[in-house]
Amino acid sequence: MNTCIVGLQWGDEGKGKIVDILAEKANLVVRYGGGANAGHTVVIGDTKFALHLLPSGAVRPETGCVIANGVVIDPDCLTGEIDSLAEKGISLKGRLFISQNAHLVLDYHKAEDQLRENSLGKNKIGTTIRGIGPCYADKVGRTFAVRVADLADLDTLKQKLTKIVDYKNKVFAALYNAEPLSSEEIFKKCQLYAEKLVPFITDTTRLLHTAIDHGKSILFEGAQGTLLDLDHGTFPFVTSSNASSLGMSAGAGVPARDVDKFIGVAKAYTTRVGSGPFPTELDNETGSYIRDRGNEYGTTTGRPRRCGWFDAVAVRYSVTIGGIDAIALMHLDTLSGIKQLNIATAYRINSEDSTFFPSNIETLAKAQPVYQTVAGWDEDISEMTDFDDLPQNAQRYVTLIEDFTRAPVTIIGVGPKRRQTIFR
Ligand code: GDP
Ligand code: IMO
Ligand code: MG
Repeated sequence: MNTCIVGLQWGDEGKGKIVDILAEKANLVVRYGGGANAGHTVVIGDTKFALHLLPSGAVRPETGCVIANGVVIDPDCLTGEIDSLAEKGISLKGRLFISQNAHLVLDYHKAEDQLRENSLGKNKIGTTIRGIGPCYADKVGRTFAVRVADLADLDTLKQKLTKIVDYKNKVFAALYNAEPLSSEEIFKKCQLYAEKLVPFITDTTRLLHTAIDHGKSILFEGAQGTLLDLDHGTFPFVTSSNASSLGMSAGAGVPARDVDKFIGVAKAYTTRVGSGPFPTELDNETGSYIRDRGNEYGTTTGRPRRCGWFDAVAVRYSVTIGGIDAIALMHLDTLSGIKQLNIATAYRINSEDSTFFPSNIETLAKAQPVYQTVAGWDEDISEMTDFDDLPQNAQRYVTLIEDFTRAPVTIIGVGPKRRQTIFR
């Protein structure tokens, strides 16, 4: 059984928790897109892990971890993560497989991300400054790309870096009056990364297809969320990869027909970090209540997340384009204590109601959500393990979400811990 887990909103839906739970039955967990912009939280007992590049399966000592070709790898972050798990007694030796074809995020990518965001002022995208956009741009541009395989041929890498850094320095000086970066220093760091990472480098596409042929169970771990997808999200306020399930095949080299189930993860409300339109945003006390109860602060950047009502128009769109079979609805516990809850079931745009998510942000920015209002519940539901034990109003809320999004909710999150999960 192969499963793909993907975010249905603007990221941070709780993918890490679901991947960790389902990884118990998986042989391999695969990251296939994005980079260290992701922050996936796994809570085991009282220990909290925040993973940026390692698949969430990494915390289970028996599970194989694959970082496939579609990921952009910041080697500084990845080696740091490997070391920090080792300090906690969790070794990745012999079970981490890094694609030779994944691209490397280097210092000049992070510098460019920061310089460009600064130059945009209030029009900035609100990126994580992890160098994601500049690295994917180099991948698509090809001329200045550095891939993981280059770490295994340091002489050639040295020459490559001299040319690339020289070019970047000229551009950064001309556009931003920036101080030059040193290609020698970047190369020295690459020598250290090579020592640590070369033993893990392999052909992950071949590895995955061999695993499929042998009937192994694979879990594909999406990063970000469908509304941040470069082609299908709220462009330009998106990330630079195909963060919907549509990116899985290209990012892992595995066709969708080899995946038995696509599970979309959504919160029982909506959050977003960074800029861009957000029709159901609550810039009021209810928004603050959700932020406080849900601890809605970025795992990667610590920024407060913008909070709002559940947007069934957006999630239905994500379900539709992503071929989603089932929804994992997280953070239902966070909504306890809100008297009345709203679910956006349509957008009113220029006096017309539509249930299809608009494909450009100029239209989305005009959308007024049409809400269905339902009664909330007061009970603390964080220890409940059975759907039938939930308050009637909570059950009704979940059922309405199923109706509006046209997908069954088969997993419900009622807290950050593994056991705080209801299966239906
Ligand atoms: P990801 O990027 O999708 O993996 O999500 P993040 O880890 O960035 O953010 C989700 C946050 O919610 C983390 O702090 C999780 O520990 C926490 N979390 C996950 N599921 C639940 C849930 O059902 N209830 C509550 N209260 N917290 C949850
Ligand atoms: P996980 O995997 C939430 C957002 C940034 C910004 C936009 C572009 O933890 O769900 P980027 O650095 O990618 O160029 O930033 O995308 N963003 C995320 N928001 N969760 C994430 O990952 C995100 N990764 C990127 O905040 O708005
Ligand atoms: Mg996150």
